Amino acid sequence: MKREIFVIEGGNSLFGRTEIHGAKNAVLPMLAASILSPAPVTVRDCPHISDVDDMLSVLDAVGVRTERSGRDITVSGAPSVTEIPSGLACAMRSSVYMLGALLSACGEVRLYAPGGCRIGARPLDIHFDGLARLGAKVEFGEDHVLCAARRLVGTDIVLRYPSVGATENLIMAAVKARGTTRLIGAAREPEVVSLVRLLVRMGADISGEGTPVVTIRGVESLDGAKVQPVKDRIVAGTVMAAVAVCGGRVELYGADSSVMGAIISPFLGAHTFLVEHGGAMVFESDGMLAPTDVGTGPYPLFPTDMQAPFMACQCYASGMSTMRETVFEDRFAHVPELISMGAGIALVGNTAFVDGSAGMHGAEVAARDLRGGAGLVVAALGAKGRSTVSGVRYIDRGYEDLSVLFGSLGASVVRTEEPEHGVRTE
Ligand code: EPZ
Repeated sequence: MKREIFVIEGGNSLFGRTEIHGAKNAVLPMLAASILSPAPVTVRDCPHISDVDDMLSVLDAVGVRTERSGRDITVSGAPSVTEIPSGLACAMRSSVYMLGALLSACGEVRLYAPGGCRIGARPLDIHFDGLARLGAKVEFGEDHVLCAARRLVGTDIVLRYPSVGATENLIMAAVKARGTTRLIGAAREPEVVSLVRLLVRMGADISGEGTPVVTIRGVESLDGAKVQPVKDRIVAGTVMAAVAVCGGRVELYGADSSVMGAIISPFLGAHTFLVEHGGAMVFESDGMLAPTDVGTGPYPLFPTDMQAPFMACQCYASGMSTMRETVFEDRFAHVPELISMGAGIALVGNTAFVDGSAGMHGAEVAARDLRGGAGLVVAALGAKGRSTVSGVRYIDRGYEDLSVLFGSLGASVVRTEEPEHGVRTE
């Protein structure tokens, strides 16, 4: 597969409007949930990104039919294969979301070590402990895990950490279990609420979504449904970060401010401006940013997926900012790259101290993960001079072509093949 880079001439202000699509992190579990009924399930407003393409490959591999029409994806039929091919499972972390759905639909699932971004160890103990609590037999092989259960039986499950994926997997496993399941300490993310909205439309009996205790009463069968996922708050936040560093005014149509409180707050603290008008969030910045102190955490706190894009903003602030990462233990791969662009950043444990006073300049930087790559693009948009960002394939996992998105707002971003001599890569 050809390796592509973004070539960015920084310094243009951004003006215009953009449409925010459905959230990647809602669409992926919703597509997995679609196999819980043989009837057609349509997830609307899906982004054209490689994680969704990979999920469609996984669904094809388990034997259900998938059909894409624009941004709408329809899944129908019952799964006939209970093994996620190792090549696919390694393609992305989202294959993990098939665990609960396949176990519920077929009574067994064999999953190879999932891939995805290299951000920390990303264990799955909360998933497997919960499935075992529901009565599944969980056997670990060299590079795979086998879960099997003739019939899952509802029970109380305490999650030691509000894991988004584990919450989603356990909800999908419990929807047709015998009896009632309560997830205590569940994740409250809007993407979890979006998954539950689909399952309830399919006939599941679930309450408490969006709170720390989710109750699932098992039902015999589920039907088809058609649902709009929650809008992508991380894409909206990434566009805001670009406007913040470049200066300008952009209207974000469809952005759902009701789930973006913790994202919006640090931007306002950095002295940018936001109003809601005519179905859009209108975001404005003069490019003069104040320093901020931010810490990531489970929803409703500031999301870890916004850590890198917002750190890029902190690199332009007039003074010392801090960014504390509390969700993943190794999500600072973008820091050395930002330093090569002129940022003064010191890492002390899980906290980055970011001094933006030196100013940023273009450089050759390498994306190593999805959101870190997005942060580097944001930093390059505001930097004086030319930057190249390699590792575009990581960024394509979660964003539709950023060269098109930011180009439509006045930025100079060219997507091109990596030159023979190569540029700095991971
Ligand atoms: C989901 O990942 C998202 N991915 C991530 O977005 C997001 O960063 C993360 O939630 C946190 O919000 C999707 O929804 C597809 P977790 P997930 O389980 O489910 C630890 C992006 O950029 N943990 O909430 O994998 C784990 O190691 C991606 O769009 C365990 O220890 O996240 C991490 O430190 C990146 N044991 C923390 O919990 C477990 O069994 C949060 O993980 C599970 C998780």
